[in-house]
Amino acid sequence: MVLSRRGSGSITLASGQTLAIHTRTHDEEDLPHATKKTMADHLRKYESRCVVHLQFRVSTNPKARSSFTLTPQRMRMIVEAFKDTLELGLAKPDQVVLCHVSLRPCRFITNAVPMIPTFVFGFPTGQEQGDYLAVDLGGTNLRVCLVYVQGEGKFEITQTKYRLTEEQKQDDGQKLFDFCAECLKTFIDNNLEADHRLNPGETLPLGFTFSYPCFQTKIDHGELIRWTKGFGVTNTEGRDVAEMFRKSLAKYELPVTLTALINDTTGTLIASHYVNPKTKIACIFGTGCNAAYMEHVVDIPKIKNLGIDDTADMAINCEWGAFDSFDHEHLPRTKYDTIVDETSNKPGEQAFEKLISGRYLGEILRLVICELIDEGVLFLGQNTYKLENPYVFDTAFLSLMESDPTDELLMIIGIFSHFFAVETTLAERQFFRALAKLIGRRAARLSACGIAAIVSKMGYLEEGCAVGADGSLYNKYPGFADRIHEGLVDIFGEKGRNIVTYHAEDGSGVGSAIIAAMTKARRNAGLYVHL
Ligand code: BGC
Repeated sequence: MVLSRRGSGSITLASGQTLAIHTRTHDEEDLPHATKKTMADHLRKYESRCVVHLQFRVSTNPKARSSFTLTPQRMRMIVEAFKDTLELGLAKPDQVVLCHVSLRPCRFITNAVPMIPTFVFGFPTGQEQGDYLAVDLGGTNLRVCLVYVQGEGKFEITQTKYRLTEEQKQDDGQKLFDFCAECLKTFIDNNLEADHRLNPGETLPLGFTFSYPCFQTKIDHGELIRWTKGFGVTNTEGRDVAEMFRKSLAKYELPVTLTALINDTTGTLIASHYVNPKTKIACIFGTGCNAAYMEHVVDIPKIKNLGIDDTADMAINCEWGAFDSFDHEHLPRTKYDTIVDETSNKPGEQAFEKLISGRYLGEILRLVICELIDEGVLFLGQNTYKLENPYVFDTAFLSLMESDPTDELLMIIGIFSHFFAVETTLAERQFFRALAKLIGRRAARLSACGIAAIVSKMGYLEEGCAVGADGSLYNKYPGFADRIHEGLVDIFGEKGRNIVTYHAEDGSGVGSAIIAAMTKARRNAGLYVHL
């Protein structure tokens, strides 16, 4: 038994499990807490610990070791591997196989990062105009918008948000699309018909932002490759989600025409370029993470057979959250990341996203805390059951902890006492804050690696470019953007300053409406499928 202080300690069972022990007597009131030195020692361990992350292989390869700290050299190695993966995704065609469960033909994605051609051709002219509806099914909310696109970078937007319940995220697919249609109906009844903005018999074009990987062969079609962000909705993977939504729209007899199926990153790319034409890349750092950019059709070998004009450009939805999935060769995963992955509903998948996005950062920190509770370092003698439920530690808590302006770290006291009913000392709170910083900083630096891979693939470094970024992590996590910029300098040196991220224009509302407008214009010009 290792005694860490009087009456407290931990024992390791033959099974390898560690049990924390604390004995208190009737005349002891104070709870035992870790000392400042203990917390500092633990922090050092997380800053520089070396963890073997390949489950069944003990490797001496330095790439196999990992910590929460990313050196510039390690970042450059990641960028190189990332760049090769992007190229591969553009080159290698996907295959259609028979799914062994449903026996339906389904797409077998041979590329880790699918690099999905979106059939959004080029940037907007800025002259797009008209009223458009947009429905945005993201990771947390359903949003319905009416966008009045006015041209010359101007627009007006009216919107409503509905929170998705955990049940809806696991229920039947058609039911989810019925819910989207029902919300759209309420919105139309309240905003359009009340304003008499729709003439009898008239339909409005609708852009559907569906923020999950979909294989597309045209703009208004998309087969769901896989759910991400913890969604497990049934009867949807491998099916055309645009078709499913159309069925629900018809059921509610809605006066709309689904014109375009859009990923949130593609929408962000187009909306951001509409207001800032220097934008060449768009990223989302929210519940999930991903990027889109504009590619030359001639450099997308896997769609050569479609006979699309080689001089055209097409937006690519990278789905970069899938980088390093299954093989886990390139990313520095700690044992906490491995647990997050293995206990998720999609083990092995979205390896990059699981180190970066808002859905997972809080959980990574919670797992570290739980380990220290089990080892008898934290919260001895206190009831910690509230901290023991997966995903109870919201990533928003990391933001709040990092931005606590008080010397006593009062915000952190509040989080632990109010949400988890445990008392903390200043040393512990300083430790939690430092840990949040390690996890948040790693997420931002890995994000810089993804951006750097696109920049370097497209040759944007010398002339520089703007990167439109959106999502709760980017918008609300203190210092996230600065840490990305610092990472870009670590990767590229001083030239890294030529790449500047900024808070993007609303992609899933405005972007989706502009894409619907671009599509309508192409359709009117007889260019429906491709050039
Ligand atoms: C999805 C992407 C999406 C991103 C951001 C990821 O989980 O796979 O399609 O763009 O989240 O919402």
